[in-house]
Amino acid sequence: MQRTVLLTGASRGIGRSIARRLLIDGHRLSLGLRDPEALRGTDLDVEAVIYHAYDASDPSTAESWVDATLSQWGGIDTLIHCAGILHRTPLLFADGEEQQLDQLWAVNVKGPWWLTRAAWPSLASSGQGRIQVLVSMSGKRVKGRMAGYPVSKFALMGLCQSMRNEGWDQGIRVTAICPSWVNTEMARAVTAVEPAAMTQPDDLASLCSSLLSLPNAAVPFELAMNCSLET
Ligand SMILES: NC(=O)c1ccc[n+]([C@@H]2O[C@H](COP(=O)([O-])OP(=O)(O)OC[C@H]3O[C@@H](n4cnc5c(N)ncnc54)[C@H](OP(=O)(O)O)[C@@H]3O)[C@@H](O)[C@H]2O)c1
Repeated sequence: MQRTVLLTGASRGIGRSIARRLLIDGHRLSLGLRDPEALRGTDLDVEAVIYHAYDASDPSTAESWVDATLSQWGGIDTLIHCAGILHRTPLLFADGEEQQLDQLWAVNVKGPWWLTRAAWPSLASSGQGRIQVLVSMSGKRVKGRMAGYPVSKFALMGLCQSMRNEGWDQGIRVTAICPSWVNTEMARAVTAVEPAAMTQPDDLASLCSSLLSLPNAAVPFELAMNCSLET
């Protein structure tokens, strides 16, 4: 089935790999980008892809993006939340660092929440709506001294469970994708793990692609993956 996919975070990293893969699969993509011109002239600048201005910290852009996609393509049956930020904010944050907590909440939690709300009627009317969310292993356990990021990802996992419950009877299936380190700018900035030893974005994109081929009765709610053993 050809899907119409709303995808955030496609400018780089994991989202970029997912966009490429879903395009190869034959889906139509509507990409929400802070800079909607960022992908002009790239391999994602083709007829099956449209761009719209979207900032996860500005809820009004979620509605205008959904409206523009509906006017162009008449429906949305898939939503993939990939945009996200990481701050290392510890539990005992310094004065002034509380701003980082507000940003983490705005981008990692409120962003996906508002966008889901805007796209919901269309996802529900398809009867086979899909929502994939790039959560993290940091949405399942807390390691080390980082606090703000994992707390935002635990909240995002809660949002995933709420979306699953609310959408079940309407055929909406939600998958919380929980990798540890993925080889992107985000991970390379905060860990000494060798990039080659991390999960590769293209492998993650293959999983996202396979999930979209599954029927309502077979979609896993959670997909956890580690690039190294955690005990
Ligand atoms: N990399 C990992 O190890 C890892 C592991 C587990 C989970 N994750 C999660 O996977 C997702 C993607 O991560 P990544 O590694 O691909 O990160 P990345 O390379 O840093 O890319 C982040 C993406 O999010 C977008 N973004 C950031 N703030 C935004 C905002 N306010 N509005 C709209 N878009 C915004 C960025 O767009 P701009 O280009 O405009 O900045 C970029 O496309 C994130 O949610 C992350 O938490 C990553």
